[in-house]
Amino acid sequence: MHQKKVLIMGGAGFIGTVLSPYLHDAGYDVTVADACWFGNYLPSHIKLIQTDLFDLKKEDLVPYDSIIFLAGLSNDPMAEFSPKSNFILNTALPSYIGFLAREAGVKKMIFASSCSVYGYTLNKTYTEEDPAICNYPYGVSKLQGERSLLALAEENFRVVCIRQGTVCGYSPRMRLDLAMNTMFKNAIQNHKITLSNHRIWRPILGLNDLCEGYKQAIEFDQEGGHIFNLSSFNTTVGELATSVIGFVKEKMNIDVAIEDQNVQDYRNYKVSTEKAKNLLHYNAKQNDLDIISELYNNLSSFSDFTDERFFNIQVFKKLVHDNPLLS
Ligand SMILES: NC(=O)c1ccc[n+]([C@@H]2O[C@H](COP(=O)([O-])OP(=O)(O)OC[C@H]3O[C@@H](n4cnc5c(N)ncnc54)[C@H](O)[C@@H]3O)[C@@H](O)[C@H]2O)c1
Repeated sequence: MHQKKVLIMGGAGFIGTVLSPYLHDAGYDVTVADACWFGNYLPSHIKLIQTDLFDLKKEDLVPYDSIIFLAGLSNDPMAEFSPKSNFILNTALPSYIGFLAREAGVKKMIFASSCSVYGYTLNKTYTEEDPAICNYPYGVSKLQGERSLLALAEENFRVVCIRQGTVCGYSPRMRLDLAMNTMFKNAIQNHKITLSNHRIWRPILGLNDLCEGYKQAIEFDQEGGHIFNLSSFNTTVGELATSVIGFVKEKMNIDVAIEDQNVQDYRNYKVSTEKAKNLLHYNAKQNDLDIISELYNNLSSFSDFTDERFFNIQVFKKLVHDNPLLS
């Protein structure tokens, strides 16, 4: 049987460092292309091309059946620090790669989009058919990245945009600037979790559920362009904090307080994953305790909470300082 060749762009990041070996173990021939802004924590058996993606040429993409695009700026603070790079790397770059990939005969491109395209919603569970209205740089750039790729989709170039919830859990390339990961760190470090507003809704996506969703997206065989929401569960951040606090009390005997700043957030959404269930056969398995347990079981490998590589914005500010083109 033909072993599918998958190129994971941005695959040395938080998600890619878990997804790449997962797909390798599932039988795919995996290669990562990444500039390694945050270092390289991939297992040595994963092939790595260290490069800026803008330097890739059509010929470089010819060998691959599918491309997964996980690159670009991956959160609001980076996007707001440098809106120009944000739009270049989250909109122009995937659009350019999609163009090259189609020319190169790559059959499928999977784009890591975000549920943050939904913006501030009111008490409704959003499907992919509902309006995506946001006005902050990260959300707009992800939405435009989707649109440019969907415009390229055709019979022989399939596009799948995955609107991920906030991805949480443990990766060897660790991030502590993501909802649950941040709460877990703050509970242990400060014995306090600070929330902008406990009523805010977020979809949370465990890394294992994410990996399954991407595998199903590679195998999904409908022509054209498609969008899927992907999350493990919807929750308010208040409920999430309560789970973290209960866990940390039980396992570590630490008493943790909540500080609710009660300010307006610009993101508030819960999403439906029915379409992924029906078409990708996606079945979310992880709950809040699974993800917190995963963090707890790997704590020794990220317990130096002062290490700046766990916080994207800190590394990115230095990158921009050293490379004014990114500013
Ligand atoms: N982590 C989340 O909660 C989340 C949620 C929704 C969507 N997403 C999206 O998923 C993707 C992956 O997220 P992550 O948390 O793994 O991000 P990350 O910041 O950990 O990794 C991004 C990777 O992309 C690489 N990269 C960026 N620009 C590049 C370029 N021009 N050339 C080569 N490499 C480049 C970086 O070196 C880094 O390794 C991102 O596109 C992000 O927007 C993430």
